[in-house]
Amino acid sequence: MADAQPFDRRDGVIWFDGKFTPWADANVHVLTHGLHYASAVFEGERAYGGVIFKMREHNQRLIESARMLGFEIPYSVEEIDRACVETLARQGFDDAYVRPIAWRGSEMMGVAAQQNAIHLAVAVWQWPSYFDPAERLKGIRVDLAEWRRPDPRTAPSKAKATGLYMICTLSKHAAERKGYADALMLDWRGQVAECTGANVFFVKDGVIHTPTPDCFLDGITRRTVIGLARKRGIEVVERAIMPEELAGFDECFICGTAAEVTPVSEIAQWRFTPGEVTRTLMDDYAAEVRAHAKAAAAA
Ligand SMILES: Cc1ncc(COP(=O)(O)O)c(C=O)c1O
Repeated sequence: MADAQPFDRRDGVIWFDGKFTPWADANVHVLTHGLHYASAVFEGERAYGGVIFKMREHNQRLIESARMLGFEIPYSVEEIDRACVETLARQGFDDAYVRPIAWRGSEMMGVAAQQNAIHLAVAVWQWPSYFDPAERLKGIRVDLAEWRRPDPRTAPSKAKATGLYMICTLSKHAAERKGYADALMLDWRGQVAECTGANVFFVKDGVIHTPTPDCFLDGITRRTVIGLARKRGIEVVERAIMPEELAGFDECFICGTAAEVTPVSEIAQWRFTPGEVTRTLMDDYAAEVRAHAKAAAAA
C-alpha cells in the first residue's frame, strides 16, 4: 500500500551535496546518468533512540559499493557519517530510517560517464515495521521468485547498487499479486540466495543454516545476527542450500536493516513454525540495537 504522503512531498530537510535542502526542493534533472543507467548506490540504515545502528559499517559499504561501480564518492566516511547524524537530528526523530544515495550526474549522457559529477544525498524518514506487524509475529508468507540473483561475472553482485533491485521489484510485485509478503530468490546456480531486501536463515535441530553470501549482499544485520546466535552458543553453518532442502527445516526467518528479524511461516509449498531460535534472535536483535543506542548516549 502506498504511504499517505508521497515521498517527494514531505516535510523537513534532505542533506543534498553538502547542504540542507528543503525536502520538496531536493530534486535531480531528468537527464541524470544515475536515472538512465542505474549508476547509483545507496544504503538503508536504522536509528534507534536517536543513534544509527552500525552507521560506520553502512557508510563504508556505500563507499565500497560506489567503487564497485567505478566511482568515488567525494566525501569521506566521517563526512557521510556526519551528514547522516545531522540529518537525523534536523528531522527530529528517535527511531527512523536513514537513506544515503550517491549517483552520477548530468555532464555526460551516453553510457560512458567519466566526467560526471558524483552527487550524494541523505534523507531520513519514519519507517516503523517493514512488514505488517500482525503478520510479522505469525511469520510472513513468502513466494519463490522467478528471477535469480546474477552470477558475479554478470553484475557487481556485492554492491548495494540500484540496478540490482530491478529484479527485486519484479519479484516482490509478482509475490504481492499472489498475496505473499515477499519473495525468496535463488541464485544463478539454483541455490537459495536471499529475499528481495533481506537475508534468509533456516533452523533444523537447533542449528542455524544460512546461504554463503558469494553472489548477494552479506548484510550487516546478517552478520550481527550470526554474532548474536554464536554468543548464545547456537551453531551457525554458512553453506550452499538447495531449495529441495527447505522441506527439512523447522524454522525460517529473514533479516535486514528494514526487516530486522522477521519470522517466516511459509515459502511456496514449504512450511515453517516460528520457534525458540527465531524468537530468541528477534529479542536479542531488538536488545542489541537498543543497547547500542544506550551505550552511545552514555559515551
Ligand atoms: C537485497 C538485500 N539483501 C540483504 C539485505 C540486508 O542487508 P543489511 O542487513 O545490511 O541491511 C538488504 C537490505 O538492505 C537487501 O536489500
